[in-house]
Amino acid sequence: MNNGMKHYPGMLERPAQEALVSDLRQCVQKAPLFVPLMPRTGTPFSVRMTNLGGLGWVSDRAGYRYQALHPDLGTPWPQIPPAILDIWRAISGFQADPEACLINFYQGTAKMGLHQDKDEEEFAAPVVSISLGDTAIFRFGGTSRGGKTQSLKLSSGDVLVMSGESRLCFHGIDRVMTGTSTLLKEGGRINLTLRRVTKA
Ligand code: SIN
Ligand code: FE2
Repeated sequence: MNNGMKHYPGMLERPAQEALVSDLRQCVQKAPLFVPLMPRTGTPFSVRMTNLGGLGWVSDRAGYRYQALHPDLGTPWPQIPPAILDIWRAISGFQADPEACLINFYQGTAKMGLHQDKDEEEFAAPVVSISLGDTAIFRFGGTSRGGKTQSLKLSSGDVLVMSGESRLCFHGIDRVMTGTSTLLKEGGRINLTLRRVTKA
């Protein structure tokens, strides 16, 4: 696998996954999912998203950025629940807590094109990604666009860490395999992406 990329299949057992989903349902009531738009073109993303933590990642015609307030409500994002911080603390190897937890919700044919996570100031901290619900085909390559890529299945309860060289690798979601998990009543997939944004 890419240098610094680590996959922990089934790190979260079913009860822990269920507890996370119930935490997330409460959070999404306070910070509803929104449809991000591509910078300039305004094309809607196929995923819906929201955030937890002091800073949330948003995208609209003006560009990609982190901001402290929900774009529709103008209210602060809910705090990152302790169970999610515990996963970061157990696995990131980084001394400071994450400031952002992006929640991506995939339904139906939603996918995510290859991109780098590079809107942060602190690249010494890894990206920690948690998968819940239906299995996704994750694609990743190196740090330049157009290079060779490989794919990896991410299933409910899996945790993926991108650190070192892989911190800035191109990655995305080709598709989600409908009906592969019973975790979410309405089906689909939730991905949580934890990131340190400012210099620790
Ligand atoms: C992302 O890179 O923002 C999402 C990755 C995923 O859904 O696993
Ligand atoms: Fe990403």
